[in-house]
Order: sequence, then structure tokens, then C-alpha cells
Amino acid sequence: MNNAPIGIFDSGLGGLTILKALQKALPAEKLIYFGDTANVPYGSKSRATVTQFSLDIAHFLEQKGVKLIIVACNTASALALAQLRKSCRVPVLGVIEPGAKKATATSQNGRIAVLGTEATVKSGAYRQQILKRAPKAKVTQIPCPLFVPLVEEGWAKKPLARLTVQEYLKPLAKTGADTVILGCTHYPVLKPVIASVLGKQVQLVDSAQTLAQEVKTYLTQKDAQAQGKGSLTIYASDAPERFKRLAKHILGTQLKTVRLKKLNA
Ligand code: DGL
Repeated sequence: MNNAPIGIFDSGLGGLTILKALQKALPAEKLIYFGDTANVPYGSKSRATVTQFSLDIAHFLEQKGVKLIIVACNTASALALAQLRKSCRVPVLGVIEPGAKKATATSQNGRIAVLGTEATVKSGAYRQQILKRAPKAKVTQIPCPLFVPLVEEGWAKKPLARLTVQEYLKPLAKTGADTVILGCTHYPVLKPVIASVLGKQVQLVDSAQTLAQEVKTYLTQKDAQAQGKGSLTIYASDAPERFKRLAKHILGTQLKTVRLKKLNA
């Protein structure tokens, strides 16, 4: 079982920020990534729809013999984690808890802001997890729906990205937040722009780094770390060539193959 792969999924390219962190932290693991490019974005969809997509992907990953599933998507973690845990035979880890834990440990003044998709913000999942750990925390949530298409388009370094970040983050100054959670796995791609708009006094909590550490601890505790050489297999539910081309912006290297896997086909 230790050498069985780890399954990772997201609505599209965003989860690659987590994949990259996992490859660095756990180079011996065999990773299978699924990007649901046929259905991106998840952030504007209902709980029922996101849950159905997530279950379909998780079941596909289980058929591939994974030992663990990582929901590399805040929206799916916020809306579908409980259902996934009920329905999967293997353990399922999401991104919300590690992010909330890191943010409460990081914040000095108890003022924490969450940037996320509309669905993640509406679910209140981060607020709940933060208040569980720091009941007096002041939590501000800001939906940033245009961040995902900017990243999916490979436009994170264009001036438009900076303008969009400035506009969405305007209300932050008034809140006095000293810690900001990048509550969508697409957002670490915009981290340099977000950091330069917010300045050095604000700490950014990146779900990628936090989750990779969490997975490492989990596998070590369970004595389930793989040995030998790691590998990577990538599936996309639509337009695999486009995925391959744009993945380079995030991974920094060219993927050899992206396989097409339509859900329910
Ligand atoms: N990357 C995802 C997240 O972490 C979803 C973005 C989307 O599809 O809207 O929320």
C-alpha cells in the first residue's frame, strides 16, 4: 500500500500549486492529478453540483488504486469534504483546516482575511474553522471571482492581474488584517502580485505549503511514505493539450503528457 499513488484533484490548474509543493516535500510519492477542466470554475456553482463532480473524480481516483485523496481545491473542500469522506474507502484530506490552523497560528492581532471563490466564502467554512481555534478572531471574507480565470488564462503576470488584485483588496486596509489566507488553490499563482499590493506587514497563508506539510506529517504518522522514485500522471476532463500548455506557467516545467478522462465515460 505504501507505494500506491496519492490522488489529487482540483477544478483545473489551481491544484498544481499543491502538486508542486507535494513533489518538493515528498519526492518519492507517485502522484495522480485530475484537473476537471470540463467543469471549471467550481466557485460559482452550487454545493450539489460541486459535490457530484468531486465524488465522480474521487471514485475514478479510487479505481486507480490511490492510498489517499487530496482535495486540492478549497471550493470542493468547503462544499464536499464530508460527503467525500463518507463515500470513499481511502482517507480524504482537504485544504481548509490546514489553512485555518496556519492562519490562527500566524496572526498577531486576531484579524484574519480570507480570499476565496464565491462558493467558499458563502459556505463560511474558513470562518468556522478559524473561530473554532480562535473564538475572538475577527474574520473578513472577500470573494475574488476574477482571480481564477486570470490564472486559467495564464495572465497572472499581466497588468490586468495587478489592477484586479488592487480592486478586490481595497476593503482590506480598513479591516487591519495582519494575515490573509489565499483560500483558493489558484491564488498562490498571484502571490507575488498580492504580496506587493498588500505590503510586507501582511502575512500570506498559502494553502499549498500548508497542505504539503500536513500530508507529510500524516504519511509519517501512518508509516505510509513511499520508497524509491516518484512519478506523476495527469488527467484532464477536457482539452488536455491546453492544460499541458498552461500548466507550464505554474509548474515551471513542461509536462510530457496530459491524458483525457471524461467524467462518467
Ligand atoms: N481552485 C479552486 C479552489 O481552490 C477552485 C476554483 C474554481 O474552480 O472556481 O477553490
